[in-house]
Amino acid sequence: MIAQGFSLSSQTGRPYISGMSIAAALSHLEKTFPEHLEDLKKLVRIPSVSFDGFDPKHVRASAEAVAALLKKRGFEDVKLLEVPGAHPYVFGQWLHAGPNAPTVLLYAHHDVQPPGREDVWKTQPFEPVEIDGPGGLRLYGRGAADDKAGVIVHTAALSAFLNGGGQCPVNLKIVVEGEEECGSDHLPLFLKTYRKLLDADVLVLTDTSNYDCGIPALTVALRGLVGVEVEVRALSKTVHSGMWGGPLPDPAMALSKMLATLVDTEGKIAIPGLREAVKPVTAAEEAEMRKLPYEESEFRKQSGLLGSAKILKEGPNPVAQIWRYPSLTVNAIQASSRAQAGNIICDAAWAKVTIRVVQGMDPVATMAALQKALKDACPWGLEVRFKEDGCSGAWAADSSGPAFEIAREALSKGYGRDPYFIGCGGSIPFVTPFAEALGGAPALLIGVEDPYTNAHGENESLLISDLKKSCAAQIHLFAGLAEKFKK
Ligand code: BES
Ligand code: ZN
Repeated sequence: MIAQGFSLSSQTGRPYISGMSIAAALSHLEKTFPEHLEDLKKLVRIPSVSFDGFDPKHVRASAEAVAALLKKRGFEDVKLLEVPGAHPYVFGQWLHAGPNAPTVLLYAHHDVQPPGREDVWKTQPFEPVEIDGPGGLRLYGRGAADDKAGVIVHTAALSAFLNGGGQCPVNLKIVVEGEEECGSDHLPLFLKTYRKLLDADVLVLTDTSNYDCGIPALTVALRGLVGVEVEVRALSKTVHSGMWGGPLPDPAMALSKMLATLVDTEGKIAIPGLREAVKPVTAAEEAEMRKLPYEESEFRKQSGLLGSAKILKEGPNPVAQIWRYPSLTVNAIQASSRAQAGNIICDAAWAKVTIRVVQGMDPVATMAALQKALKDACPWGLEVRFKEDGCSGAWAADSSGPAFEIAREALSKGYGRDPYFIGCGGSIPFVTPFAEALGGAPALLIGVEDPYTNAHGENESLLISDLKKSCAAQIHLFAGLAEKFKK
């Protein structure tokens, strides 16, 4: 059956979408947007933190809520996809656009980061609240942007077509992951188990950031992530620092010395061999990067960098640096605690260190070099132990293909202004293995975060007007893919 607004092109027999059905879908979105915002709020109320030590029942409840939402908004065959030991993935599909229409695999994740410091939140992390903020009215709450908003972009677009335009112009499959924020450890097994179910011509992921409020971006590169926990142990017990201080080596000091060797005085990674591996930035790349608007005052405001703190520059500008240069961060340090900082020598000290790797860097070699550097720098014969925590490479798209032009147009129409093509500093483990498994299918990364979102930190928020623009862009994207990405 061909629904209202659709016809088969007489020459090709392929589905063809009329401007009328796009307009009908957009007007349906306009009318029903408050309902989609309510859908998002319901998801944010579920504290689906996927980290160890947080109750996994909430991630399961979130998966069930996402499944119910997918069904409500028109996806079919909705089910949880399980892999032993993993938080549940949610799957759904809508395959009535006909055999000649492309099949689009949609991705988002429903798990979230831990809330962080409750006292730093201005609202309750799992109670969504609308407050004016950068760019206009924002929805505050953990996961409001990263990445529960990503789910809503998909459900709102399908629903707008089904209930406004008649039917959707592309075939859809959707995967909503439950363990992205804790490293997607079970992704290889998931892929092996469910590969056939997920066959598609193009991937659309809504888990990245816009360039600024109201300024869309298509992300064409991601950094990879190499993480390690390091523990330095000196004593079999924690002791009095007055009674024993002097002859006993302090593991917290040892760890500080070790960490300090990892970067030079300019903050650049100083681990032998690592920077040499980075694929040199070409003149053409540099020219592209220089086109990105950059204002130091804006950058400081967006990132929250204090006035006296120096920006550690490398490359054309910090935006390009995040795209194409590696970075090393100490994410956490532990040796006793602020609350229990007695006059003690700690038995051990612990830190988590991560390196964001870029093109040219081999994540496995980076992991080995990081551990060697820490071990070599450990003073006083102390014991060093490592626990590896993530080892994935960088991703870069060949953005010259037609899918990227279609996405450019769709974002322009949805946001009312042209997008920037950018590299983002974050990682999404799903992208590389899935794009490869689908025979090099193009991956379009068009998320709704912005530089004020503060994902992973406290007071995460989503710009509500950009969510609506993103949903509109998604409608244009489906229409564009149906029209120009036919099989
Ligand atoms: N949404 C982010 C990734 C992201 C953020 C990409 C901004 C581009 C711009 C995602 O949820 C995330 O945080 N991923 C983790 C992955 C890690 C656990 C392997 C990351 O980057 O830390
Ligand atoms: Zn995310």
